[in-house]
Amino acid sequence: MAQRPYIVGNWKMNGTRAMLSEARAIDRAAQRNMKVEVALAPPYTLIHAVHREVEQIGVGAQDCHPGEDGPHTGDVSATMLADAGAKFVILGHSERRQDHGESNELIRQKAESALAAGMRVIMCCGESDATRQSGKAEKFVLGQLRASLPVMDDASERLTVAYEPIWAIGTGKTATVADVVEMHTAIRGLLVELFGAEHGPEIRILYGGSVKPDNARDLLGAAEVGGALVGGASLTADSFMGIALAAGELPES
Ligand code: PGA
Repeated sequence: MAQRPYIVGNWKMNGTRAMLSEARAIDRAAQRNMKVEVALAPPYTLIHAVHREVEQIGVGAQDCHPGEDGPHTGDVSATMLADAGAKFVILGHSERRQDHGESNELIRQKAESALAAGMRVIMCCGESDATRQSGKAEKFVLGQLRASLPVMDDASERLTVAYEPIWAIGTGKTATVADVVEMHTAIRGLLVELFGAEHGPEIRILYGGSVKPDNARDLLGAAEVGGALVGGASLTADSFMGIALAAGELPES
């Protein structure tokens, strides 16, 4: 059965309590737009507050530590995030891979920990400009996913994949619809191989990288695109819900 488009806002290192009003506005708009599943990943400091303020949208985190507890100053475990109200965690984002040197192996351990804490996982992947120019984007992205996805038996319920070409993140450049479809089709093939014919076809594959209200319709209407992971344009209810609205207006597939 086709799932609803999934529109996820990644607030990154943005947001103080003053932004709770945006979260409330996003939640109210999501209640009027039930054709789309909407979620927000605020910074750690706002997870509990957003969770308390909203009724409809999902609330998640942008990272977690692979362990459950212990002497890891400054880190936050999946169990703690679940306790704060997070229902999912974004893992493997290119900014974490770059800023914190995260390896596929570490990301897989984090995913296992998130699943053990009862959370869903949004697993990010994506190639650099140099890798795309060298013609190796697909091989690179599938290699990342193969090495960072954990084994799980209910993948269609608990896993979402987000394809985010690094050169499109925060740059205003987006991949062409044809490139997105080609990559998502390759990712779909891998998901069927890894998770079988029952779960593989149902796992949503999001596109991310400079998604805005004015390009959302083309990108979200493309084959194999199950939604969007949105950074900059998720910081205000107006632009974020513009994207969700575009997703809700797509013909039923
Ligand atoms: P952007 O970020 O929408 O600002 O390009 C997307 C992301 O990094 O998830």
